[in-house]
Amino acid sequence: DHVSLWGGRFAGGPSPELQALSQSTHFDWVLAGYDIRGSKAHARVLHAAGLLTDDELTGMLEALERLRADVESGEFLPVLGDEDVHTALERGLIERAGADLGGKLRAGRSRNDQIATLVRLYLRDNARTVAGQVLDVVDALVGQAGAAGDAVMPGRTHLQHAQPVLLAHHLLAHAWPLLRDVDRLVDWDVRAGRSPYGSGALAGSSLGLDPEAVAAELGFDGTVENSIDGTASRDVAAEFAFVAAMVGIDLSRLSEEIILWNTKEFGFVRLDDSWSTGSSIMPQKKNPDIAELARGKSGRLVGDLTGLLTTLKGLPLAYNRDLQEDKEPVFDQVSTLTVLLPAFAGMVRTLTFDTGRMAELAPQGFSLATDVAEWLVRQGVPFRVAHEVAGECVRVCESRGIELWDLSDADLAAISEHLTPAVREVLTVDGSVASRDGVGGTAPARVAEQLEAAREKAAEF
Ligand code: ARG
Repeated sequence: DHVSLWGGRFAGGPSPELQALSQSTHFDWVLAGYDIRGSKAHARVLHAAGLLTDDELTGMLEALERLRADVESGEFLPVLGDEDVHTALERGLIERAGADLGGKLRAGRSRNDQIATLVRLYLRDNARTVAGQVLDVVDALVGQAGAAGDAVMPGRTHLQHAQPVLLAHHLLAHAWPLLRDVDRLVDWDVRAGRSPYGSGALAGSSLGLDPEAVAAELGFDGTVENSIDGTASRDVAAEFAFVAAMVGIDLSRLSEEIILWNTKEFGFVRLDDSWSTGSSIMPQKKNPDIAELARGKSGRLVGDLTGLLTTLKGLPLAYNRDLQEDKEPVFDQVSTLTVLLPAFAGMVRTLTFDTGRMAELAPQGFSLATDVAEWLVRQGVPFRVAHEVAGECVRVCESRGIELWDLSDADLAAISEHLTPAVREVLTVDGSVASRDGVGGTAPARVAEQLEAAREKAAEF
């Protein structure tokens, strides 16, 4: 028998085609537990307003608790014809409390304020889970950075050798954006922490209900200021979607590097057997599937954000059914990230770096040319001239197929009177990285401080 929340003014039930289009229980059922928590809080404010007797409140809470247990055990499930999670749960309540009592709960609330509240509850809980998992990836990166010590690698710009850097410095450059993503989630939670419950369909309630009491019971810091905004806005969901997409992008950029580093040509890193996959035809293959899935799923995470923003664009106030489309994108992001992040952390934690190979390549490609120029500046040579002189050194080396440190004293003197043999002190990788000792630089002492700062930042959460 079809149970609807809006039958009165309709002569017939919805067509099967409309039902199929309209039904949302296949995705919004994950909100059932939050819906029942909201219903318990709502029953209490109905009672406080004199709209439920003491006995009715007791009966209502008892029926809601039985419904909660039956939802949790899987005993109670939505059926065809339950339009959404709210409809299904009202059916469940009436089955348990009877139509007279069960039919009283809906007073003074609307699915519009309910759903806006439930999505916030769901996202606040899951944001905590995601933040914890992001911090686990950070922990893996910080662990690798600590283990890397003073190991060096070729730092790149434009994917070309640029200047040598510490491996730890590079790894921490992936940790900081992830720490900012966690910061973003913490900051977002302040805005998500306002309850729309009590906004009704759009205009609020005439029944003297206390939205503050519902907000407090559901763990919010307060209520929204405007009932129209409370039911119609989805910027809280969109902001969550941005942070989730940003986490995806941050993982994707690191993934791209791991994929490159894991090639024969780079040979910087080896993946642990348990965190890589084989080929069904090529016996020798060991593939970086976790990194590739992370890179691939970042597209999907961005798609979720884009889809949600596009749904919101041009929607007039207040509630429109379009807003039902807010849930699947953020639910998809949560289920994507909560599966991806633990695998990603495991992959990072078990990487083995070939620091010998990285050290060998670090000074190649004339990556110490800037050191020559800066050495000249320290001798009082204007940088414009120093840049020219160092560039001339590179040109001479390139034409002879040698490296900067192969230039003889005579070669140096022929290029510039300022180039004394003392320049050789900066023609080593260790000398180069040690000289970059300003705050945030790649000198080992600065990177050690940075590592400590990253550990402290991660421990703040
Ligand atoms: N299922 C809807 C949603 O997810 C909530 C129901 C509002 N429906 C309505 N006709 N006002 O947004």
